[in-house]
Amino acid sequence: MIADPSGSLAADAVPARTQVLIIGGGPAGLLLSQLLHRAGVDNVVLERRSRAYVLSRIRAGVLEQGTVDLLRQAGVGARMDRKGLLHGGVEISFRERRLRIDLAGLTGGRSVMVYGQTEVTADLYAARDAMGGTILHEVEDVALHDLESASPFATFTLGGETQRINCDFIAGCDGFHGVSRRSIPEDRLKLFELVYPFGWLGILADVPPVSDELIYASHEKGFALCSMRSPTRSRYYIQCPLDEEPGNWSDDRFWEALAAHLPADVAARLVTGPSIEKSIAPLRSFVAEPMRHGRLFLAGDAAHIVPPTGAKGLNLAASDVHYLSQGLIAHYAAGDDLALERYSDRALARVWKAERFSWWMTSTLHSFPDAGEFGARMQQAEFDYLATSRTAQAAFAENYVGLPY
Ligand code: FAD
Ligand code: PHB
Repeated sequence: MIADPSGSLAADAVPARTQVLIIGGGPAGLLLSQLLHRAGVDNVVLERRSRAYVLSRIRAGVLEQGTVDLLRQAGVGARMDRKGLLHGGVEISFRERRLRIDLAGLTGGRSVMVYGQTEVTADLYAARDAMGGTILHEVEDVALHDLESASPFATFTLGGETQRINCDFIAGCDGFHGVSRRSIPEDRLKLFELVYPFGWLGILADVPPVSDELIYASHEKGFALCSMRSPTRSRYYIQCPLDEEPGNWSDDRFWEALAAHLPADVAARLVTGPSIEKSIAPLRSFVAEPMRHGRLFLAGDAAHIVPPTGAKGLNLAASDVHYLSQGLIAHYAAGDDLALERYSDRALARVWKAERFSWWMTSTLHSFPDAGEFGARMQQAEFDYLATSRTAQAAFAENYVGLPY
């Protein structure tokens, strides 16, 4: 039920009731909406931004095998299978030392797919439109009510008019800054947080990637990542101070800094060009427990954040949605609430392992202002161990391609 190409729906077309009300039209909300709709569960998505805005956010690039399988199961895998790049290995460099982790060889043939979050989101929007899904864009002042009752509801403003939707359940898929987590009384949530003393400055450019596989590079000057979106489009990041501004970085300054962060032979191959996008992301580890309050279920960045070093954020959103959709579908199909009851514990068990891996990769590969000589030697020992132990590489590979659901 989409009224115009911007994705906006007229205020008088707002339904009075739905089974599952989904707050947030990012990847978690859209994927949940798609899986539920395919299983016959009625749902509505409320998104604060315009569709164009959501689609302009450049974020994740690496999909775990489980995410790829889930997207296929949701009926949105066709373009990903045509355009995505399957990667059976990943490189880690430490100063001038290089190490290729054979992801496929160490995990019995599992791999990751390089396919941008923007593309995943576009595929999901196309699929929701094709099925007549209801996505309300540019909703303001969303407030959640009666979460501990059997009939929760949300109020919001759309086109200047106050609206209300009644529902059975609310899925909070509205990201770290959303309203859902904040609607849970403080004394019912336990929050865990680690804020890192740096961010990532990222650039997107239509230049061929410096390597066929991703390179995670640790250098005395700081961390750098060489990633890509296609054989002609590169995505690069360098570690930067938290108070840095993208506006202070001309393209030339970025390319020069990137080259200085990479092993000499990689830097020598770097192809530079004008940037399409430049942005800074702070790094944070964060978990809110539990991921449920009454009839409100949190999923994705609304409940947890990982630093991007392990490429786990979008993938965790997908595994949450897998568990949550199973629970909601079992409720409606069979009146069975066991999976819903277990949702928070099942999701958190996987979340914490991805938090550990992302924290470990971040700690091992970045320059920390206060690490001192001992910290530097610990990082070197971590790399030495990884470089010389097949067991350590297998553990890395198992986590990087994604732990089973
Ligand atoms: P979001 O994408 O944040 O979507 C939430 C949606 O809710 C948004 O559209 C927002 O507008 C909407 N919203 C917010 N508040 C409200 C409200 N009050 N009412 C209604 N709607 C609201 N992850 C990976 O797995 N692999 C990677 O390689 C990777 N790389 C990354 C690189 C960078 C630079 C960054 C910043 C992140 C990266 N991530 C990566 C993380 C990934 O992008 C996020 O984990 C992912 O977007 C989470 O999806 P989500 O749907 O939970 O939240
Ligand atoms: C990306 O391509 O944007 C990307 C890839 C791997 C990461 C983080 C981001 O770990």
